[in-house]
Amino acid sequence: MINAKTVKKIPFGGDYNPEQWDEETRKNDMKMLPQADIDILTLNVFSWAKLQPSEEEYDFSDLDRIMDMAEDAKMNVCLATATATHPAWMARKYPDVLRVDLDGRKRRFGARQNSCPNSPTYRKYSVLLAKKIAERYGNRKSVLAYHISNEYGGLCYCENCEKAFRLWLKNKYKTIQKLNEAWNSSFWGHTYYDWEDIQVPMNTSERWPVNRTSCQIQTIDYYRFQSDSLLECYRLEADVLKSVSPQIPVTTNLMGTYPELDYHKWAPYMDFISWDNYPSPDDPYTRVALNHEVMRGCKREIPFALMEQTPSVTNWQPYNSLKRPCVMRLQSYQAIAHGADTVMFFQMHRSRGCCEKFHGAVIDHYARTDTRVFKETAQLGSELKKLGAKFLGSVQKPQVAVLFDWNCMWGITFSAGPSVDFDYTSEVFKYYDAFAKQNIPVDVISPEQSLDSYSIVAAPALYMLNEKTAASIEEFVRKGGTFITTCMSGMADENDLVTTEGYPGRLRKVCGLWVEETDALLPGHTNTLKTVSDSGIDGEYPAAILCDIIHPETAQTVAVYASDFYAQTPAVCKNKFGEGEVWYIGAAVPKDNTKFLQKLASFTTAKHGIKSIVEPQEGIEATKRIAKDGTAFVFILNHSDSKKTVEFDFSGTELLGGLNVSKKMELNAKDVAIIEVRK
Ligand code: GLA
Ligand code: ZN
Repeated sequence: MINAKTVKKIPFGGDYNPEQWDEETRKNDMKMLPQADIDILTLNVFSWAKLQPSEEEYDFSDLDRIMDMAEDAKMNVCLATATATHPAWMARKYPDVLRVDLDGRKRRFGARQNSCPNSPTYRKYSVLLAKKIAERYGNRKSVLAYHISNEYGGLCYCENCEKAFRLWLKNKYKTIQKLNEAWNSSFWGHTYYDWEDIQVPMNTSERWPVNRTSCQIQTIDYYRFQSDSLLECYRLEADVLKSVSPQIPVTTNLMGTYPELDYHKWAPYMDFISWDNYPSPDDPYTRVALNHEVMRGCKREIPFALMEQTPSVTNWQPYNSLKRPCVMRLQSYQAIAHGADTVMFFQMHRSRGCCEKFHGAVIDHYARTDTRVFKETAQLGSELKKLGAKFLGSVQKPQVAVLFDWNCMWGITFSAGPSVDFDYTSEVFKYYDAFAKQNIPVDVISPEQSLDSYSIVAAPALYMLNEKTAASIEEFVRKGGTFITTCMSGMADENDLVTTEGYPGRLRKVCGLWVEETDALLPGHTNTLKTVSDSGIDGEYPAAILCDIIHPETAQTVAVYASDFYAQTPAVCKNKFGEGEVWYIGAAVPKDNTKFLQKLASFTTAKHGIKSIVEPQEGIEATKRIAKDGTAFVFILNHSDSKKTVEFDFSGTELLGGLNVSKKMELNAKDVAIIEVRK
């Protein structure tokens, strides 16, 4: 899809559900959408019921008409396989497709993403449907990509899943003894004698609400297994699509830092990453950016697709504020700035009934082209048309990486203690934000990826890690890299067994210290990090949530705690290791005062000669995409509510206004500049 050879511009469009509309409405939509320069439709996402009205019967006549209609309107198509909701007849006839929930209740027909991933019926018929779709539409030039299912997610706890889980475990641990060791199952006398003894971890067995479990590794393994099970469903469809029409790339729409699937394991099976961006109205722009980075980090060399965003409003958040004028445009360019090569929406025409009747769309219930939303969409459409293929395919090359890992997220989320306020993704965000606010490009990648191209790697709360990751970090530092890590890192191995060699376990040598205890601060309580050596980050900063009590070995103390019984003991340490150094931050910082991290980011980037893309200032975001021929495109976004003067050290052409700029420019509130940098 996102391939400059097939498209000459950024594809612009999104989900269209013509199954919900009569012929006349469809015709009218096809007249209206091109007026906003919409040129791609995601079709067929929820059409299984229509395509297969009974077990024996397939009926593609309506989809044929829809495809013709889209092509007549000169639209490209992102063709979904329609397997995100099974048809009612299937649930009636083959109840194995229905999921069982965490409380052990068998679901009935309804909702969506409702199929058990280990149901033989679901697997058989989803693959068959994908095959028929590929056979029927795979040779149409309009089909730029296959969109498999929709927003995979949720877990199932049924008997089929239980059987499959036992097999998955057998494959992983080989013998029940090994499983007992890895799961430390003699705790509370949970020793397993036979694979059949193993239960799925639900509220009637190992789990207790909310997010607690008596055996964390059992739940972590279950999450890994369910993620793998859904991935198998995806791969079965992908394989059959590829076998029929190998030229069409496959994807599925992911969801940023969504906590239920390990997207790093999915990425290799996706030709390109696509994802759905639904920020809350009060999300800081860097939080939205983090999601883009996590998605981009899944496949660093390939631009991703912004598969969905709302043009105006969501309906499922507690408070669904309208996107203010210019915000949809700003967020669309933000996606591009972070590496998207499409701008797509959910959805083209607002539904009349059911739970999305209040969800925004390009065409409203009262279908007019003079609405605010349609006009804003059309403005963006015409800009994207003008920009053409300028930066399609270009990528980012940051020198800073932040590690993000679903295993660490699960390990911390399910663990009982030390503090419910210590949230993995929030900790990662604080570190990402510290660099991003200074307009330093950052990759957010899996710990399994190579660290070779980076100068600085931050790994907040790298709770569990295997030997390979520990070795890769050591190697990175030895060669001169700066590694930053925090409390709750290195505590456990990949099976959630806590180290007996002193925390942070596999990171202890590289950090040059050991941690004796970790204190959890009560809500609203803080301690203070007080620098003691001339470290470049001198000052006093608040600490919150967790405080490690640290014994430096080879590390040097940078800051001590100012209060409590561990006052004057090390809180922040720095260790020289090989050519590089490691910063160990023993405490978390409060989310509303991250000054310490900003200082740390400035100091470490300055040391490595890493420069801000544009001069940092409140509300100004900047990123850089680099084309194959080396041309750099700088994106500057003004997220603030006031006009700003932005300063930088290059000159070039601003592509939206067509003007030359040099060293500085003015940017209105919520406005965007895209500068092709002069070489
Ligand atoms: C998700 C789904 C869409 C739609 C939107 C609404 O992203 O993929 O089908 O429900 O949410 O925000
Ligand atoms: Zn199941």
